[in-house]
Amino acid sequence: MINLKFHTDIDASILAVQASSAQNLLAEIQNDKMAGWLTLPEDYDKDELIRIKTAAEKIRSDSDYLVCIGIGGSYLGHKAIIDALESQTKSDTKILYAGNNISTISLQKVLDEIGDKDFSVNVISKSGTTLEPAIAFRVLKEKLFEKYGENEAFSRIFATTDAEAGALHDEALYNHYERFIVPDNVGGRYSVLTAVGLLPLAVAGIDIDELLAGAREEEAAFMTQLASGEGETSNEEIAGSITDTIFKYASARHILRTRNYDVEVLSCFEPCMESFEKWWQQLFGESEGKEDKGIFPATAIYTTDLHSLGQYMQQGRPNIFETILTFERNPAPKYMNRLNPEITVPKMPENLDELAYLEDEELGVINGKAKDATITAHSQHIPVFEIVMPDLSARSLGSLVYFFELACAISAKFEQVNPFDQPGVEAYKKEMFKLLGKPEN
Ligand code: PA5
Repeated sequence: MINLKFHTDIDASILAVQASSAQNLLAEIQNDKMAGWLTLPEDYDKDELIRIKTAAEKIRSDSDYLVCIGIGGSYLGHKAIIDALESQTKSDTKILYAGNNISTISLQKVLDEIGDKDFSVNVISKSGTTLEPAIAFRVLKEKLFEKYGENEAFSRIFATTDAEAGALHDEALYNHYERFIVPDNVGGRYSVLTAVGLLPLAVAGIDIDELLAGAREEEAAFMTQLASGEGETSNEEIAGSITDTIFKYASARHILRTRNYDVEVLSCFEPCMESFEKWWQQLFGESEGKEDKGIFPATAIYTTDLHSLGQYMQQGRPNIFETILTFERNPAPKYMNRLNPEITVPKMPENLDELAYLEDEELGVINGKAKDATITAHSQHIPVFEIVMPDLSARSLGSLVYFFELACAISAKFEQVNPFDQPGVEAYKKEMFKLLGKPEN
């Protein structure tokens, strides 16, 4: 279960009022036509789940690499979880990413890494028309054709896209690629628990059943909350539930925003969570940042960034608040499934580096102290929240995904903006297509 701690003074009664108004937004969110992600963990299409696992097995048996082509919500979610769990998972098939930019250097790097090894491609685009993945897909298709010939190439392409429309959907049908669906009622940045995320995750060796189970726990709490909201519920019943934690996080963000805190920094003391932070950044940035509103989502990895952004957090303009992701249990022991993985500070006969006071101490313990010290120091200058995960596992990450998705939808509703659209993204595309001479449809 995900926990929330406040290392700042937020008036409990103001928070309670705001949190209870979150309760009223739940039904509104549930009735939105883009709220399919709310029930995905429980309602997941079981047949598709089996097909995902079968496809993953095939890819793992015949490919050294799976190139995941997609941008925004079509890649950030699975990259988040794959990077977070990399140290605990094993797969002979390595995941590569393409089509999330238009950089020659970046795509060439992928092509060079593949070299003449075996590979498959998972092209992911809900709309099926996004330029960045479409270009990368052409390039990789050409490489597949050259290496395997057309027929085998087609059997190495897995397309995750809309069920009925779009250029990618049409091409997949035409060439008989294996297809997976991004449901109509799930937007890109809320899609990590669909085939968008699950196929790459399964190929990477991550237990997708555990991931969904973690999300299901949060979903069950949400559904109970929703049902109780329709009848008579006391605030005591809300308090202490998972949903209460989500309400409080969304509410505290909103309260701070009304007090001119414009920036939230999500930080973590484990570098493997960097991609997860990027996923969170996209989720909140695209969901809230519109109509001249929203909190700017920034990210930091500590202690690395304590030697850069840390200065600003401690003494810069106090329009920032910080949410620190922590773990109840030290995540290191699962590393590569070793029994005794913790690195300790070695003993040295001479104390030239003056570290004798740390001899035999585990790095995890030292990192924990750095975290506690940072919370104490930063909270003297800015509001600090702490989101505590039980551990670093597929199940906890599944819970955390659901936690943030729901918190984000509530936060956007507090701002009175639509959490599920991203009209602003069209502006650069329009200008770019003009410059590139794209024919009008
Ligand atoms: O969250 C979103 O909806 C976006 O970030 C999309 O995922 C992104 O723009 C990619 O779109 P598509 O999957 O249609 O290629």
